[in-house]
Amino acid sequence: MRIVIAGGGVIGCSIAWHVQKAGGEAILLERGEIAGEATGASAGMLIAPIEDTGNRAFNVLRRASLEMFPSVIQEIEEASGIDVEYKVPGMIRTARSPKAARALHDAADKRPDLEWVEPRVLRELEPSLTHDIAGATYSEDDADLNAGRLANAFVVAAERAGADIRRRTMFTGLKKDGRRIDGVSANSGDIADIDAVILAAGPWTEALTMRMGAKLPSPPMRGQMIAYRSKSVRHAIWGEDGYLVPKPRGYLWVGATVEDVGFRKKTTERGLAGLQRMAADLVPRLRRASVSSSWAGLRPGSPDGMPVIGRFPGKKNVFLATGHFRNGVLLAPVTGALVADLVLNGRTDRRLSPFSPQRFAR
Ligand code: GLY
Repeated sequence: MRIVIAGGGVIGCSIAWHVQKAGGEAILLERGEIAGEATGASAGMLIAPIEDTGNRAFNVLRRASLEMFPSVIQEIEEASGIDVEYKVPGMIRTARSPKAARALHDAADKRPDLEWVEPRVLRELEPSLTHDIAGATYSEDDADLNAGRLANAFVVAAERAGADIRRRTMFTGLKKDGRRIDGVSANSGDIADIDAVILAAGPWTEALTMRMGAKLPSPPMRGQMIAYRSKSVRHAIWGEDGYLVPKPRGYLWVGATVEDVGFRKKTTERGLAGLQRMAADLVPRLRRASVSSSWAGLRPGSPDGMPVIGRFPGKKNVFLATGHFRNGVLLAPVTGALVADLVLNGRTDRRLSPFSPQRFAR
């Protein structure tokens, strides 16, 4: 089956690899560079969800994806020759207010992977952390990777298995045959005789859905980030207002704002100052560190904060995979696997109804 995927972020790239691996023929169209948008901006944290979203299916999906990472990484690193810079620094989750500390304590009581840490132990674990902390947990298995490298490893692995990856290629339209799409057009020419199309273009997916006569929302949610040149932090640190992640080559990444400002992908003085303040409140010595770079990305949101995965309403062979918001990297393996299943086999074992595009169809 010939499957066209629109979008070269981590979700589209994972789908391309899973489609190719399962015997399909993936054709991925990316109008710019692979991982050139939200994926490239992401800190790439792979952490078990701390907050219960209240939706069991969503929590199950996130945990399932987290568990897929070690084997997926091994497979795509071998197949692509790309090191995704996977590392397991462990994470310290901090609470500044007694209320947040109680919530953290309750979580540590319930979850074997979270260990409540007393102040003396915390100072040994992460000496640079402020002493002004009401409570903290430690989880030694929390990992992160380079999200841009992950997306590239997916597509290079797919490409080496025969997928057609078209970079700097704009998806421009669809060719219909009744309720089926049997071709797509791109600025480089038409692609005929296709069996399915998957729209995985992050926040730009909404514009693509409008060409199909339905408006399925995938609002852009800006995230600003900064990087320090600093080796003062050993573990990833999660605070109530943001996070710090030590990265290879002596960098420390700090994120992230969550802003509903349309497609304005730029950093702001206010956003960057807020990140610097948050980072220095957690790690006081960062007051003297220099910010080496800053950037912004546009995550794909959704009206209820959950991904939009499944068949496009009223179309037999068009599928959506967007709305992953703050969970795009985390959900990439499971989304790729289940979308490949859905498209190639017409079904998936995973419960998809809570993520159905139908919930927003008008
Ligand atoms: N994935 C973390 C964030 O969006 O800030």
